[in-house]
Amino acid sequence: MASRSASVLRAAARAAPRAAPAIRTPARSYSVLARVAVAAPSSPLKRVSPLGATRGVKTLDFAGTKEVVYERADWPLPKLQDYFKNDTLALIGYGSQGHGQGLNLRDNGINVIVGVRKDGESWRQAIEDGWVPGETLFPIEEAINRGTIIMNLLSDAAQSSTWPTIQPLLKPSQTLYFSHGFSVVFAEDTKVIPPKDMDVILVAPKGSGRTVRTLFKEGRGINSSIAVYQDVTGKAQEKAIALGIAVGSGYLYETTFEKEVYSDLYGERGVLMGGIQGMFRAQYEVLRANGHSPSEAFNETVEEATQSLFPLIGQHGMDYMYAACSTTARRGALDWAPIFEKANKPVFEALYKSVRDGTETRKSLEWNSRKTYREDLKKELEEIDSQEIWRAGKTVRSLRPDAK
Ligand SMILES: NC(=O)c1ccc[n+]([C@@H]2O[C@H](COP(=O)([O-])OP(=O)(O)OC[C@H]3O[C@@H](n4cnc5c(N)ncnc54)[C@H](OP(=O)(O)O)[C@@H]3O)[C@@H](O)[C@H]2O)c1
Repeated sequence: MASRSASVLRAAARAAPRAAPAIRTPARSYSVLARVAVAAPSSPLKRVSPLGATRGVKTLDFAGTKEVVYERADWPLPKLQDYFKNDTLALIGYGSQGHGQGLNLRDNGINVIVGVRKDGESWRQAIEDGWVPGETLFPIEEAINRGTIIMNLLSDAAQSSTWPTIQPLLKPSQTLYFSHGFSVVFAEDTKVIPPKDMDVILVAPKGSGRTVRTLFKEGRGINSSIAVYQDVTGKAQEKAIALGIAVGSGYLYETTFEKEVYSDLYGERGVLMGGIQGMFRAQYEVLRANGHSPSEAFNETVEEATQSLFPLIGQHGMDYMYAACSTTARRGALDWAPIFEKANKPVFEALYKSVRDGTETRKSLEWNSRKTYREDLKKELEEIDSQEIWRAGKTVRSLRPDAK
């Protein structure tokens, strides 16, 4: 079977969750869930925390450390719309986050415009999503001139390369918004130094822009981090919270620009993406070298993990997953866990160091600023796609009853 190219996969990923063009949500509510709750106040969907209190801002005990968390319940839609009634949110860039955050803001009835390169891929995508040139879609410079809150959602490499054009357009009355601490924290490399006389804030959704959109449409909400880099007006924190809810978050954690970027770069290179691919592949290859079939090696490595065990961890925690397994599996897994921890810890320590000292940032800027970055990436993804483990996975997945 011919393998699908990465570009086809990307095109499918972009197309799948996309809203029908130019259709606005008539109820203009921040979620399906909210609409249901308004329609039926006694609905069991009305959010009550497991702690018994009505959900909203609260200090919670995270394994012995107290942290403040903000929830959507404190920002009913009319309050949110009133808060931004004099604002124009200029969303610069329409990639994964631009798409998700932009459509959620629009559905929430917030005045939002999009600024991207005229006639580029994002311009085309934005039109497909119902943004109208000259009304809600503008070239980047014009959108910045029209906006009161400038949401810089260009790719991190582009935030750096476009900064000499963007920076002179910024005004003290505007707020500068990011979804990653990258540009500002690594200013020595990116050269992104915000003017001292404006609020600079961050809302970083902890997931892809596609998930930001899908969860919103399902009436749920992604969790996001919020942070303040500069507070000139005294209202930066409040703006970050309101924007976090407006873009589709269900709840918000406090952080700093530094902590956000260090943890984010570390996590995605580690367990979330790089580590998982490395671990899956190592386990699969050892099984194959010992004569196991591709289907057996894949099932024991990826399929059982993603279809059975990881969802249990997600829903109930690690102890629950252990408890749900056979006594034989549990004994061995409990014995081997510390061995893997010991072997992996030095790798994680080296990774964190590489993030903190800017090595990862410089690599990312260098790679993603290349003219050929799209083609280079395509080649690398095709290499992964052609690895036996993932080719075997295609056949395994096609057998799932729900795939038929
Ligand atoms: N994706 C995620 O999962 C995620 C999660 C949380 C936070 N974030 C953060 O959110 C921000 C946006 O990320 P993203 O993944 O949504 O971005 P992305 O898809 O990488 O961004 C692409 C956007 O940047 C524009 N762009 C690229 N090069 C450009 C240039 N030289 N001049 C002008 N525009 C240029 C593209 O426009 P064209 O189509 O015209 O090239 C497109 O609109 C980043 O700070 C990222 O770290 C991302």
